[in-house]
Amino acid sequence: MKYALIFLLSFSFSAFGKSRTQRAQEANKELEQLNFFYKGRGMVISPDLIKLYDTIKKTGVGLSTNGLLNQRWGLNLQDKKIVGMFSKPYKNMKMGVLGCVACHSGRAAGQLVIGLGNKNIDVGQVGTDAYLAQLLWGVAPRPNKPEFSELHKRAMHFTSILKNKNINNLTQGLVPTSLVKTWFYETGGVEIPKKFGRGQVKVPHLWGYGEKRKSGSFWDGFADGVFPGWAVAVELRGGQSIKNVREYVDKIHHAEDLMSDLLPPKYPFDIDQARALKGKEFFNQTCYKCHGTYERDSEGLPIYKQPKVVPWKYVKTDYERLEFVTEDFLELIDSSPLNDLMKYKEGQKKGYVAQRLWGVWSRFPYLHNGSVPTIMDLLTLPKDRPEVFDLYKSGEKERFDEAKLGLKIERDTSSKNYRKLLRKAKKGKRSIYYTQRAGHSNQGHAFSFYKQMTQEDRLNLIEYLKTL
Ligand code: HEC
Ligand code: HEC
Repeated sequence: MKYALIFLLSFSFSAFGKSRTQRAQEANKELEQLNFFYKGRGMVISPDLIKLYDTIKKTGVGLSTNGLLNQRWGLNLQDKKIVGMFSKPYKNMKMGVLGCVACHSGRAAGQLVIGLGNKNIDVGQVGTDAYLAQLLWGVAPRPNKPEFSELHKRAMHFTSILKNKNINNLTQGLVPTSLVKTWFYETGGVEIPKKFGRGQVKVPHLWGYGEKRKSGSFWDGFADGVFPGWAVAVELRGGQSIKNVREYVDKIHHAEDLMSDLLPPKYPFDIDQARALKGKEFFNQTCYKCHGTYERDSEGLPIYKQPKVVPWKYVKTDYERLEFVTEDFLELIDSSPLNDLMKYKEGQKKGYVAQRLWGVWSRFPYLHNGSVPTIMDLLTLPKDRPEVFDLYKSGEKERFDEAKLGLKIERDTSSKNYRKLLRKAKKGKRSIYYTQRAGHSNQGHAFSFYKQMTQEDRLNLIEYLKTL
């Protein structure tokens, strides 16, 4: 009887394929390990430098969720290990390899979510510190190894780009798109212009990417997501070769399928269902115009749909990221040696993607530049939104604001704590979000119906968004 049941079960799985829940679990596991280290190349640090980390792992020092690696560099830690950091053997050396989830996983309300953007990653700081560490590492005595020198030189070059103060991120949790842009200038043999821009954005969530990519990849949808090259853009910047990318195209397609299989994280606290119902009604009269409506399949799982790209004049959020796509950049994409794998969307209007809102509770701080700490603030007129907030432990439970939905922050502008925060913000502290910095504006996303919206409407909307 037992065997008959097992037989029947396995038969039904092979007949109908895996359930979405099962596929999502497998995608989670695979993405956590995903990296594109290949024939000695990829996002790597200087050979054997990873051994230091192995030593640290033995002591455990600095490897808690509030340890140095987390606070200074914004790396996520799980079970005293860096999420998305791997050690790979290559020609008798040990290579430290950065995986996709170093950026593409994040913490929210104390849980690690694969496919959520890392809220604290600081590539500018990592680059600056790693550059120095590698510099010292490079002069350490070792038998002459030509293969060391080549890999070391490449790792130095990557960190020299990351640490460039003219183009890197000013705050934790923001990644400068300029990184990828420099690669196109370099391979095109064109000097980087003086006014280059940073193009700082938070790392986007990846569930639903299968539909999203049809509207265009990235926050502005400028890249044609049907082409697989874009998904390894950071990898190329890290030192991957064009030849290698061509050899592993199938692996990129597979990675994109995994992202599309992900499911949004469920809201971990209670939801007032009566309010949520009212919120849904309000949403479907106002927000739906840009963000669409939300339906579920027979298993109760989200049905992903394509988001819309909304021209800037309707949303008016920070413009830095849009200034970034310049005519000369588009020409370099056209003439790039990978122009068959990386194309932009012809005629795409300058604007931001009104992302679909599944799992939005976890995606704070909000907007493409992470400038608004909670949904309540996003539903408030821009002049009343917080000017400064601390990103310290932003993914931990004690920093989660259930009522306003998002990051719990110091709001009493007359308190000592707040004044201290503002002082540090003005000095440029990277773990504090200061909306006066370039590319950090919290303006926009305020529509004509905001004026009639009552506090009740806002509270109802918040409860509804928790259900997505
Ligand atoms: C340094 C951090 C970082 C790493 C590492 C990284 N990404 Fe990203 N990724 C980003 C950022 C930032 C964006 C958004 C860029 C923008 O919109 O301008 C992004 C966007 C994407 C997108 C488009 C998502 C969308 O909503 O349009 C895909 C797909 C993607 N990354 C895949 C990958 C893969 C695969 C890897 C591993 C090879 C990877 N990324 C490694 C930071 C990173
Ligand atoms: C006119 C179109 C439009 C309307 C109406 C609109 N939005 Fe948006 N929304 C956008 C766009 C475009 C973005 C992306 C802006 C950016 O990232 O700078 C956005 C971003 C967001 C985000 C941030 C998502 C993230 O991952 O950071 C949330 C949350 C959001 N909207 C909620 C709402 C809610 C709730 C309503 C209704 C009260 C609403 N929006 C109405 C266009 C709209």
